[in-house]
Amino acid sequence: MSDPAPTRRLYIKTHGCQMNVYDSERMADLLSPLGYAMTERPEDADLVVLNTCHIREKATEKVYSELGYLKQMKLARQAAGQSMTIAVAGCVAQAEGKEIMHRQPAVDLVIGPQAYHQLPELIARAHRAKGERLSADFAADAKFDRLGAVRNPSGVTAFLTIQEGCDKFCTFCVVPYTRGAEFSRPVEAILAEARSLADQGVREVTLLGQNVNAYSGEGGLAGLARRLAKIEGLDRIRYTTSHPADMDDALIAAHGEVEALMPYLHLPVQAGSDRILRAMNRAHTADSYLRLVEKIRSQRPDIAMAGDFIVGFPGERDSDFEATLQLVREVGYAGAFSFKYSRRPGTPAAALPGQVADEVKDARLARLNALLDEQQTAFNESQAGRTLPVLFERAGRHPGQLSGRSPYLQAVHVSGPDHLIGQIVPVRIDSAAKMSLAGSLALEFA
Ligand code: 5AD
Ligand code: SF4
Repeated sequence: MSDPAPTRRLYIKTHGCQMNVYDSERMADLLSPLGYAMTERPEDADLVVLNTCHIREKATEKVYSELGYLKQMKLARQAAGQSMTIAVAGCVAQAEGKEIMHRQPAVDLVIGPQAYHQLPELIARAHRAKGERLSADFAADAKFDRLGAVRNPSGVTAFLTIQEGCDKFCTFCVVPYTRGAEFSRPVEAILAEARSLADQGVREVTLLGQNVNAYSGEGGLAGLARRLAKIEGLDRIRYTTSHPADMDDALIAAHGEVEALMPYLHLPVQAGSDRILRAMNRAHTADSYLRLVEKIRSQRPDIAMAGDFIVGFPGERDSDFEATLQLVREVGYAGAFSFKYSRRPGTPAAALPGQVADEVKDARLARLNALLDEQQTAFNESQAGRTLPVLFERAGRHPGQLSGRSPYLQAVHVSGPDHLIGQIVPVRIDSAAKMSLAGSLALEFA
């Protein structure tokens, strides 16, 4: 997680009616979790918001003349090694839109009254455009930040970070603020690290990134997977976590063609109601997600799908939640992570009306989990009787037992000799439970 936020100064100049006064207060509230405290002096401000009014004829011209003064202050601050972000809000922003930025390039962002809840996102984006990082004071919450997980001590499987940060700005999520913009490591550095892992006996790598399939190194994630697959000894490639919007055709095709790319895909959907998906700023609909899954399955029919879900997002009604259950039924998941919506100050959703009562969230989560558990068990049971290649990672809990993973990331337990650790071996699946499979070695190993 990022360092505690340094205090930044915010100056808001409010013109016009009572509505604008109210909006200015709301904007100050929205920005305070990002470390902004009010100042009375614009020349001291890291962020200036001009909340404008359109009611009188000369109002627009007045805005431009004020912006002229602010530009001078911005230049003075820049000369002193400081910065100033200038935002124009209110009715002039609404009426003139981006035109303002053309006429006065010192303006960093323009935001109409309908979009104030997006202010944290827009401020973070403006900072990024200037190459600055907005370090927000978000409390660490490891639950939603699964990256940086412990390395597997067995040495047979390893995590390899290829990408960091996120540009998606889902309205519930702190990651774009805490981790900053999407950044991809160069292909060669990744290949070198992967070769060295393979030399040390690693057979499986899991490529990590907050938005791993937005990997923008040469050839994208599909190209990277194809090159990694050629590394001697590296037999299995996985990646997590992906965003539906970045699941491109090349990557989908790779799932059908690259044997080392394991048939397991963690593709969070979060919700099944388009109204909620829009409020989450997810950039996909339930239907576009379903079509995507269909397309992936046309290349790799046996792929095990996993997802992330949030219940009780602000404004979620029973009918929205039913749409989530319906989507889950249509996809059929092999695994999932489900969460109750948790309000993170500083994120746009924290300021939305219609926060859902905790008892309602609990009840929805229980219903969703019951369905997901049922699907996970059914998926596991569908493997019974099959013979699957299992990569043995470690000794099992009982003497003489080995523990490994199927291509679908299921834990598999068998009786067998230790020297099979690090090998991929055919295992006949005898029985299945919710969390694991039990099997026996399909071949004789002395
Ligand atoms: N509340 C609940 N769940 C969240 N996640 C991220 N932020 C929140 C939040 N504020 C979940 C999403 C994401 C996963 C890593 O954590 O489902 O995909
Ligand atoms: Fe957060 Fe993932 Fe959305 Fe990025 S894509 S904002 S990391 S939930």
